[in-house]
Amino acid sequence: MTKSQHQSIPQPINNEIRLGENQFIVSKTDTQSHILYINRRFMQISGFTEEELLNQPHNLIRHPDMPKGVFKLLWQTLKKGDEFIGYVKNICKDGSFYWVYAHVTPDYDSKGELMGYYSVRRAPTRTAVTTIDKLYTQMLSAEKNKQGDQASNASIALLEAFLATEKKSYFQFVHQLDNAETSA
Ligand SMILES: Cc1cc2nc3c(=O)[nH]c(=O)nc-3n(C[C@H](O)[C@H](O)[C@H](O)COP(=O)(O)O)c2cc1C
Repeated sequence: MTKSQHQSIPQPINNEIRLGENQFIVSKTDTQSHILYINRRFMQISGFTEEELLNQPHNLIRHPDMPKGVFKLLWQTLKKGDEFIGYVKNICKDGSFYWVYAHVTPDYDSKGELMGYYSVRRAPTRTAVTTIDKLYTQMLSAEKNKQGDQASNASIALLEAFLATEKKSYFQFVHQLDNAETSA
């Protein structure tokens, strides 16, 4: 499907799809985050076909409950050449949602030139979902009535304040949540 062929934007519905414990959702993008590859699990969980996903920007599956600040952190991390790990709520074609524990990494060629990005996602623990859902709701409300960088900076400030009270770095926080229990 070309970008000119308009796809309707899914309207969120309150229906959670759960990823099985040993299931992985994989995607690969170009440097502009247009999708170049998805595995079958991606299509099965999201409800989108390969044709609907390929060459589309990855924000096609962005859920409106996700704070902008999380994606700002993701891109800041990737642009530095580092790997990002975090919890993401995604939208399905029918508006349902699914939570993932995502690992996103830049892909470099032998000359060190950026080729694109990869992401592998699996089911988060339920403890993680409960904690993150609450935190993201607060981050989203910190972004309310703000635009662009102002919005993402406000929610990142809230996240940093939260981490300071927890006395943890962002990565310590996400790792510890993942180790809180087995995923289900
Ligand atoms: C490899 C890769 C995987 C990504 N996976 C997701 C994803 O699963 N869900 C999502 O909402 N955004 C994902 N993104 C981030 C999107 O490109 C985008 O920044 C995000 O959806 C926010 O959309 P916006 O920048 O239009 O606000 C991914 C980016 C890359 C490079």
